[in-house]
Amino acid sequence: MASSENTLAFKHDVLAGLAATPKRLPSKYFYDEEGSRLFQEIMRLPEYYLTACETEIFAEQCDEIVSAFLADGNEIEVVELGAGDGTKTAILLKRLVAQDPAARYAPIDISEEAISELVANFRATLPEITIEPQVGDYLAILDSLKKQSQRRKVILFLGSNIGNFGEEATTKLFRSLRSVMNDNDLLFIGFDLQKDPRIIHQAYDDAQGVTARFNLNLLARINKELGGTFETENFLHYANYRPIEGSARSYLISRVEQTVEVAGQTFEFGRWEPMFMEISQKYTLSMIDDYAAEAGFCVVRNFLDKREYYCDSLWRPRAK
Ligand code: AVI
Repeated sequence: MASSENTLAFKHDVLAGLAATPKRLPSKYFYDEEGSRLFQEIMRLPEYYLTACETEIFAEQCDEIVSAFLADGNEIEVVELGAGDGTKTAILLKRLVAQDPAARYAPIDISEEAISELVANFRATLPEITIEPQVGDYLAILDSLKKQSQRRKVILFLGSNIGNFGEEATTKLFRSLRSVMNDNDLLFIGFDLQKDPRIIHQAYDDAQGVTARFNLNLLARINKELGGTFETENFLHYANYRPIEGSARSYLISRVEQTVEVAGQTFEFGRWEPMFMEISQKYTLSMIDDYAAEAGFCVVRNFLDKREYYCDSLWRPRAK
């Protein structure tokens, strides 16, 4: 984590989470260098269908998606929130520059390494597109979006990243996005759909234990960056799916009674005490309609994969 401001926020959020009942740690801090590497590994797991579904949608419906982006004219700016390494997006952008040679791509990601990798990949494989990368928290960058350029924007928020926000924060984010969008901009969001609960459960409890390592890595990060004394082998990764709420949840469970120190403060864990780590919300098409309407958008079109596991939904601001 680069700046001392970020380290302070990390410390504040971790200490507040450990002092809460029940204990919790925010999943947005999963992504240090090792966490980002583990997430790349998760995306290649056979159980983690999300990435394959979104890639299929982009590969098979590329023409329709790009035509929908360009329905109101060319010279667009594609802004991607939480771009990662941009591999999936490259499929769309390749087709886009063929039809709109002046299109630009503005990827935003919290990870400096991810953005450097993305820029290097695009220079090698898609040099035709102009890239304007930004490193930072996209929520903080949101404000500057409106002023960024006069071009029509298509904002991408892929990978079902929205699922990690929780209901209240989701509505807040969509409203904030609406407030920085012009009437002819578009928003393209990836939503993981509700399906056989056993398939969802496996995606968060993989046989090789990569998701467990991904969760436990946050404890290692706290040890490194905040002087923590977590012994990771004293915690068990536990994931479940709640079909009524439509949410996958993960926890780290204390295997023993133990005391942990973080940043000079002491925290007691009881035997089998759970600590909440992450929510991954799953959606129905009517939930997507409701979120869009609530934040002042209309759904232009939903793009689903063949198994109907996943939906990329294109929204436009509703006329006032
Ligand atoms: C980044 N996000 C959409 C992932 C998800 O599916 O909730 C993070 C993740 N957590 C465990 N596996 C993947």
